[in-house]
Formats: sequence, structure tokens, C-alpha cells
Amino acid sequence: MTTPMANRYPQPRTADQNGQSRQPSFLEQTLDLVSGQPLLRGKVIILTGAAGGIGRVTAQVLVAAGASLTIVDREGPALRDLAELLIGDEPLTEPADASDSAAFRALTDRTIRRFGTLHGLINCAGLWDPRPLEDITPEAWVNTINASLQTAFAGCQAVLPGMVERGSGSIVNFASTAGEYGSIRPAAHYAAAKAGVIGLTKSLAREAGPSGVRVNAISPGPIDTAALLASTSQAQDSIGARTLLGRLGRPEEIAAACVFLLSDLSSFVTGHVLRVNGGALL
Ligand SMILES: NC(=O)c1ccc[n+]([C@@H]2O[C@H](COP(=O)([O-])OP(=O)(O)OC[C@H]3O[C@@H](n4cnc5c(N)ncnc54)[C@H](O)[C@@H]3O)[C@@H](O)[C@H]2O)c1
Repeated sequence: MTTPMANRYPQPRTADQNGQSRQPSFLEQTLDLVSGQPLLRGKVIILTGAAGGIGRVTAQVLVAAGASLTIVDREGPALRDLAELLIGDEPLTEPADASDSAAFRALTDRTIRRFGTLHGLINCAGLWDPRPLEDITPEAWVNTINASLQTAFAGCQAVLPGMVERGSGSIVNFASTAGEYGSIRPAAHYAAAKAGVIGLTKSLAREAGPSGVRVNAISPGPIDTAALLASTSQAQDSIGARTLLGRLGRPEEIAAACVFLLSDLSSFVTGHVLRVNGGALL
């Protein structure tokens, strides 16, 4: 008999207000893990795509790990909801198009004015709009390249000069298994954008490495988010079954990888594409 997918996650128990034993959520467990040892204490980080499925959880985990944040997304209302949820230093909330280089430079300047410095950037913005080649209109191509590749480029170009001058910094770009192996579901424009993110990451790691600035990418496998599940007719279990762990990943598991790459624990890691994909079977 196969184990139901939910039971494959770690299963510690905790008590509620009435003293009843209950299962802590995965988010509670992750927040508990990182807040016990604030690996990002005093770090100032810009996070794009913060209102999305992965970004929203990543923002919470980064703050629990001690970071001060500038949160960026083109979805203003969802961004403001997130800001209200965050504990710690009030975040700088930037409803902006992260593919706009001038807007990115301006919000970088505001971050430095507000927090005094900048240590990290996570380019998490992206767009998953799968369609076969014949349906990739010029508009669909541009939208996908802008959301996933141009945002990463604009972000890196805005923050790198300052980081190089300060002699330190860590940038995390978001790739995807599609960018490494091609997309299983027809989405050549998305795969091309994410492959571009990998090339950008490795090239900038070379350029910035001598100055002590690190540039890495995270390559998520299928993650349990509305964006992934809304666009696919397959059941959650069947998408997750393509991984060695037999399940979808959780946004918290991507956030944890961000904490590692932004923290000093990864001080000798650069130009790396960190696969957080459950051992995706491709
Ligand atoms: N969910 C998955 O299974 C999965 C797998 C591999 C890679 N990824 C990547 O992880 C990242 C986050 O994915 P998600 O599942 O949270 O997606 P999501 O759609 O929930 O979130 C993406 C966010 O990016 C924002 N965004 C897009 N273009 C923007 C722009 N130009 N300026 C500012 N904000 C912009 C959107 O408004 C949205 O809030 C993306 O880069 C995605 O490609 C996700």
C-alpha cells in the first residue's frame, strides 16, 4: 500500500491553547527552525515576486531568520496584505514592475536609504503560462521573458555595482527544472527564460566573484503553489510522483534554500544552481 502524500512530510506534534496535541503546520515548523538561530540577523534583502506562492512564504521565513526586507511585486494589494503579516522591522513595500530597470534602481536606492545598506537580492518573480509552440504569440513570449528573465537582469544590474563597491553581497535568482532539462509540459518560452536565468547567474558569478559578491540560482521542482496547480489538469499526486520523494515540494523548502544561500553558511558557494526538486525524475 502506498503512503498518502501528506504523511511523507516530517510529523512532529505540538499543543494548542487548550493543551490538545495538534500537528504544527509546515510553515510553523520552518519558522520555528529558523527563528531559533537567526542566520540572517541584520541582513537587508530585496525580494521580488513577494506576493506569489513561494515569495509570500519566503518573506515570512526570511524575517523569522532575522532579515529586514524590501518586498516587491506588481500585485500591490497582495503585497500590502503580506506586509501586515510580517513581524520584525516593518518591510519596505514596493508595488513595482521588477522588469523595469529604472524602477529597480529607484527601489534599490530607497532600500539603502531606509535600512542603511543592502546585503542580498532574491529574484523570485516569474510567470508560468504553459502553452505549445504554436500558441506562443509574440506577446506571450515577451510576457514570459520579461517576468522571469528581464526581472532577474534588472535586479542584478541595479544591485551589483553597490555590492561590488562594498565587497560583499549575495544574489539568488530563480531558475526551474524546465530551464535545465526542458519543460515536461509544453512551455518552451518559460524553459528558454529559465535557461537564460542560469546563464545570467553563472556569468555574473564570474564577474562579481573577485569582489566577494556571490550569485547563485535555485532551481525548484514542482512546488505546491496555486500558480502550478491552477495551470495543470493533473492531480497533485501525479505531478509529485515524478520526484524521488514522491510528492510536491513546499514553498517553505524553497525558502529554506534561500536562507542558506543568503547566509554566511554558504560563503564559498557561487555560480551554483541549487536543485530543490525532491530528486525530480525527468
Ligand atoms: N511553483 C513551482 O512549481 C515552480 C517551479 C519552478 C520554478 N518556479 C519559479 O519560482 C518563482 C515563484 O513561483 P510561484 O509558484 O510563487 O509563482 P507565482 O505566480 O505564485 O508568483 C510569482 C510572482 O511574481 C510576480 N511577478 C511576475 N512578474 C513580475 C514583474 N514584472 N514585476 C513584479 N512582480 C512580478 C507575480 O505578480 C507573482 O506574485 C517563479 O520564478 C517561478 O517561475 C516555481
